[in-house]
This record gives sequence, C-alpha cells and structure tokens, in this order.
Amino acid sequence: MSQLHVINHPLVQHKLSIMRDKNTGSKDFRELLREISLLMGYEVTRDLPLEDVEIETPICRTLAKRLSGPKLAIVPILRAGLGMVDGILNLVPVARVGHIGLYRDEETHQPVEYYCKLPDDIENRFVIVTDPMLATGGSASDAITMLKKRGCKNIRLMCLVGVPEGIDTVRRNHPDVDVYVAAVDDHLNENAYIVPGLGDAGDRIFGTK
Ligand code: PRP
Ligand code: URA
Repeated sequence: MSQLHVINHPLVQHKLSIMRDKNTGSKDFRELLREISLLMGYEVTRDLPLEDVEIETPICRTLAKRLSGPKLAIVPILRAGLGMVDGILNLVPVARVGHIGLYRDEETHQPVEYYCKLPDDIENRFVIVTDPMLATGGSASDAITMLKKRGCKNIRLMCLVGVPEGIDTVRRNHPDVDVYVAAVDDHLNENAYIVPGLGDAGDRIFGTK
C-alpha cells in the first residue's frame, strides 16, 4: 500500500504559512515554493540506494558512498508543478525533466490532457511527479497513469497541500506510489478548491489573474 508522508519540518511549515497569506506576491510565492521543494526533495530522495566506491582522499585510499541509480526524472504537472522543479534540481542537478500538461475543466473539475513530453528513457528512471495542489486527486492520478503507460514503475508524488479525499483517490488508484505533502488541509469547497489552501497555485506563481 502507498504511504503518505507529511513533511512537518518547522522550516517547511513556516514557509508554507507565508505562501498561504493572500498578501504574499508572486515573487515571494515562487521563491518559497522553490525552497520548500528543496526541503521536501531531501525527504523524497531519502532512501535512494547507495553503493561503495574506492576513492583516494589526500590522506589515504578509502571506501566511500555514491548513488547507485536509478537515475532521476522530475515531471511537473503544468502549470503549477513547474514551481517545484528548481528546488529538486538544486539537489540533483543531473535529473532529467519531463512535462505533463493537464488543466482542470472549470465545470466538471475533471483533468484535461494537453501536453506530454518525457525523457526517452523515462521507464528506467525514478520519477518524482510535482504539483503543489492535490485537490480531487484527478490530475495527479491521470499524470501517474500516463507515466505508467510509458512503462514507469518507480514513481513518487510530491505536493505542497492536499486534502484527505484527493490523497485517498491517488493512493487508491496507485497503491504503489508514495505521496509526499507538507500539509493535509480540511476539505474542498464547492469549486473543488482546497480549504483553507492557498488559492490558485498557478495564478499565484505566474501572476495571472
Ligand atoms: C491545479 C493544480 C493541479 C490541479 C489540482 O491546476 O495545480 O494540477 O489543479 O486539482 P485536482 O486534484 O482536483 O485535479 P489547474 O488545473 O488549475 O491548472 P494550472 O496549474 O495550469 O493553473
Ligand atoms: N488548484 C489550485 O490551484 N488550488 C486549489 O485549491 C485546487 C486546485
């Protein structure tokens, strides 16, 4: 069964509170999202496998550790997921980046696919899907299904804010995918927005609206 990881580190919680504030502008919002993504990325990659390598320090030969693979891919769900890419790239600069474009239909709240461009060898990579908002869970579930159709087997979902129903939907649809969030909020409103949430993440990142 998929595991839910709530990253309640004080730095993450403090930065998230500033992001929630409606008076926080796009520049600060983007910067805080990048910082939180780096901190969460540390947890998402916590159990990456290591191997021993022999190296020579200025003092002597010794056995040291290095990542043994698989290689990483970051796959943001457009648009808002883009805001989480740079923080993870700061940690793992050699990660490849794919893009999945989904928007939520305003009436039905169902995700609509409009773009998909992934690294050629995506099926062999450890994939971190990013999206700040996990509301109904439809967008994240569909993005993960798209990746599985391309052969991906090793997928994690990294979000900023979720609600129980969205988290449950993803975990039910994808029991093999661990979900990482910084907060589990209360509920969805009649427009399927997260309450208390932080509003429309894409609009706040890119200054639209
Ligand atoms: C938002 C958000 C998620 C989705 C979450 O994107 O970034 O992708 O809604 O909702 P769900 O869990 O109910 O599917 P949106 O569709 O507003 O597109 P945008 O990022 O381009 O603004
Ligand atoms: N998408 C957002 O950007 N915010 C929400 O609260 C829900 C979906």
